[in-house]
Amino acid sequence: MSGHGTPIPMISRKCGPLRGVADVPGDKSISHRSLILGAMAVGETRISGLLMGEDVLDTAKAMRAFGAEVIDRGDGNWSVHGVGVGGFAEPEQVIDCGNSGTGVRLIMGSMATCRITATFTGDASLNGRPMGRVTDPLALFGTQAFGRTGGRLPMTIVGAADPVPVRYVVPVPSAQVKSAVLLAGLNAPGQTVVIEKEATRDHTERMLAGFGAQITVEDTDEGRVITLTGQPELKPQNIVVPRDPSSAAFPVCAALIIEGSDVLVPNIGLNPTRAGLFATLREMGADLTYENERIEGGEPVADLRARFSPDMKGIDVPPARAASMIDEYPVLSVVAAFASGQTVMKGVRELRVKESDRIDAMAKGLRAAGVTVDEGDDWWTVTGLGHGNVTGGITAASVLDHRIAMSFMVLGMATNKPVSVDDGSPIATSFPIFEPLMASLGAQIVRANH
Ligand code: S3P
Repeated sequence: MSGHGTPIPMISRKCGPLRGVADVPGDKSISHRSLILGAMAVGETRISGLLMGEDVLDTAKAMRAFGAEVIDRGDGNWSVHGVGVGGFAEPEQVIDCGNSGTGVRLIMGSMATCRITATFTGDASLNGRPMGRVTDPLALFGTQAFGRTGGRLPMTIVGAADPVPVRYVVPVPSAQVKSAVLLAGLNAPGQTVVIEKEATRDHTERMLAGFGAQITVEDTDEGRVITLTGQPELKPQNIVVPRDPSSAAFPVCAALIIEGSDVLVPNIGLNPTRAGLFATLREMGADLTYENERIEGGEPVADLRARFSPDMKGIDVPPARAASMIDEYPVLSVVAAFASGQTVMKGVRELRVKESDRIDAMAKGLRAAGVTVDEGDDWWTVTGLGHGNVTGGITAASVLDHRIAMSFMVLGMATNKPVSVDDGSPIATSFPIFEPLMASLGAQIVRANH
């Protein structure tokens, strides 16, 4: 769990070309879901390639607390002996989800229609994030939530004793909210319907179908209508977790801005609900190619090849693409600083309620590094200085946010003066091998006290 240990200040210095193969870890979203749905199936689910990040390990612990047997077999291979839909036991202790919004929101959904009570907490970042977006729809099932002011953690959830199915239009583009409602719907009789106006990552829908649930998805004038039939018996699965496009973003973006770089990032999922960053970079003029394109486990996958791209131009990122790259705006803003012209990012209000206010965190650091950033409630722009012209020489606050810490480390690889972060420890939540992996490519990131 991040934010509870000693801060780890890190410095990133201008480096020579990045070269080699970047084997990034498993997908965080899919890892959480594998453990949770494995715990709700009857029998043994085997998972390979699970992300061994703190967020996911906290979810594994939570599933044990709810009664599932979760076994780490080494090398990213895990077994989950599930207790069946509605079979969760009441945890004896408070469930600590660390830094993970996905973890806590999906787990709340999964227990919300069981006759049990559980109390959730997290680190300072998670305890500041809004939970009403999940507890409001859960209340429709009959679930009660008692949290702090503003719907914040710590929070006690009393599961609905006699849940009723719901029909819910998700008011914000959030896969976490959608997924919480679907997971709660699993133990409600009849059909639960979730409607999203903008498509968000669809891993829950795909995985529910894989586990044998009856689920349909229809594109209508109202939006994406997802209908789930409750109280199925979920069949255990063998799940191979693909590598995380959100982690791939860091070596890819670093390679684009560092002279002479040529990096291959193999086996990256290009599910259209996740691949918005790569389309955006290509529109900016990035030398980013998809090699060996194929379908694996029903998902489009490719090896990404990123080469130094000195002539990238700022663009208007289509707001409709926001959900498919929501976690990648921080590192995109770093690339935008090295492009020429303005990059405009609109329709991104959700960035303000992530592990940190990501617009604020990036704007402060980029401005200090000499880059012009303008912002409003749901938009921001970065005016690029072109390759070789970004000063750096700053210490940025990582505000308990892994993606902010990694974005500033990427910035420092190409600025004229080093870039530091006050605390790189949150990186372990999603990308525990970030430092050795980037070092193997040629990056110069050191812990400040070494
Ligand atoms: C996630 C959904 C997104 C994303 C998060 C992972 C998921 O959050 O930012 O990192 O796995 O469902 P929102 O649901 O808040 O958009």
